[in-house]
Amino acid sequence: MNTPLILVGFMGTGKTTLGKHIAEKDQLTYVDLDEFIVQQEAKSIPEIFEEFGEETFRSLEYKYLTICINRFDIISTGGGIIEGEHAYNLLKNQNYVVWLDCELNILYNRIKNDSNRPNANNKSFSKLKSLYSSRVSRYNEIAFIKVNSSKSLSNLYNEIMKSM
Ligand code: S3P
Repeated sequence: MNTPLILVGFMGTGKTTLGKHIAEKDQLTYVDLDEFIVQQEAKSIPEIFEEFGEETFRSLEYKYLTICINRFDIISTGGGIIEGEHAYNLLKNQNYVVWLDCELNILYNRIKNDSNRPNANNKSFSKLKSLYSSRVSRYNEIAFIKVNSSKSLSNLYNEIMKSM
């Protein structure tokens, strides 16, 4: 497989589940960028947001993305990775970025009460919709394929493999 394969998409689209699935199937190395940041910084994502702000979180995403791109085959990113200019530009130059997408009402029900997701927790549907809409063109810009994450993992796997 051509690597690194990088999964992007809004919160709740299943980037982690699919990333793990692909890595296990093909015996490849895998990282969830959010988990990597939490480990390296020894702080939870809500703690980083609260103590240092979202901008700092975006710099950390970029910092650790540059490391992970050189170290892992499959990378699941956080939904807001395209908000930071540096990470966005880095992702634009990657060949195998997959955009996972899904109906927003499904995503909303998955993430609305998640206290570990500061950009979703307690947001109204319309607020989340605005955030989603503001990100769509960037996901579209960097991805070579968009897949609907409501499909089964094996369908998604086959669809992605066929396109590479
Ligand atoms: C965020 C998405 C999260 C995480 C952080 C910010 C966002 O990742 O990086 O809470 O702004 O969309 P998931 O997409 O894995 O939830």
